[in-house]
Amino acid sequence: MVTAVFNHKGGVGKSTTTVNLATGLTNRGYKVLVVDMDAQHNATDYLGLKVSRSDMTIYDVLFDGLDPHKAIYSTAIEGLFCLPASERMINASLRLNQDQIAIPSARLFSSFKKFALSSEYDYVFLDCPSDLDAVSANALNAAEYCIVPCFADRFSKSGLVNVVTAIEKAAENGCGTEISLLGILLCNFRSMTKTAKRNLEEISSAIPEATFQTVIRQSAAIPDSIEICKPVSCLPKSPASEDFEKLTTEFLVRTNKIAQITKLASGK
Ligand SMILES: Nc1ncnc2c1ncn2[C@@H]1O[C@H](COP(=O)(O)OP(=O)(O)O)[C@@H](O)[C@H]1O
Ligand SMILES: [Mg+2]
Repeated sequence: MVTAVFNHKGGVGKSTTTVNLATGLTNRGYKVLVVDMDAQHNATDYLGLKVSRSDMTIYDVLFDGLDPHKAIYSTAIEGLFCLPASERMINASLRLNQDQIAIPSARLFSSFKKFALSSEYDYVFLDCPSDLDAVSANALNAAEYCIVPCFADRFSKSGLVNVVTAIEKAAENGCGTEISLLGILLCNFRSMTKTAKRNLEEISSAIPEATFQTVIRQSAAIPDSIEICKPVSCLPKSPASEDFEKLTTEFLVRTNKIAQITKLASGK
């Protein structure tokens, strides 16, 4: 099952969510792959991978038709794998837009299909760049679900319209997998402030079924864990480790529920 972690706003917790939710699922015995789609390669770094110039990355998968299996590396966490990104992804969107042959947004989907990648993992997460660009479009096309991390502030709230539109566009596009919004996830949440509480209420009442009940509270454990390149569950218990535990449970409940609804709808 492939899930894109997407929001065109930067610094809202996409890479943090990708790495810690993926780890949460690995801790429960699932085999998980994190695909880093971002030139900033934060998920790659967070997972402790050092990628050299000669190492194969997502760039080679997208542009040279490389079998993704050849660019997948194991991490320090058993059962958690990473298909890394590097700075080479900086010009990826431009290259995709110049693509004359294939549908530019279908490259990742086609690669996963050709090399039967997703069936080998229980869960695949795509950590998207902070942009509504052709790279994100590739991720949304290859994904069945989308998680949208966001802050409980005014700018994030108004930007959600663009995020939902991009997901709907990918869903209508028809060249990849059918995608549905799994949930909006409030990250870096300052539970003590009135503004954050009000914005959380507004977001969840606007799209109630699409907002995760779990919120990821602001916690010093997150920057600490990024600093040492280890997920929060490897550090002493913290609000962040508790919240990602809860999120892991809610993710499993939500994906099962949606899978059942889809089965019913298709009459299988
Ligand atoms: N719950 C949190 N508590 C404290 N800091 C956080 C939290 N979530 C994210 N951050 C900080 O915000 C920064 C941006 O997060 P990141 O996951 O890299 O965002 P994105 O991938 O959307 O750009 C990180 O440096 C991280 O330390
Ligand atoms: Mg990121």
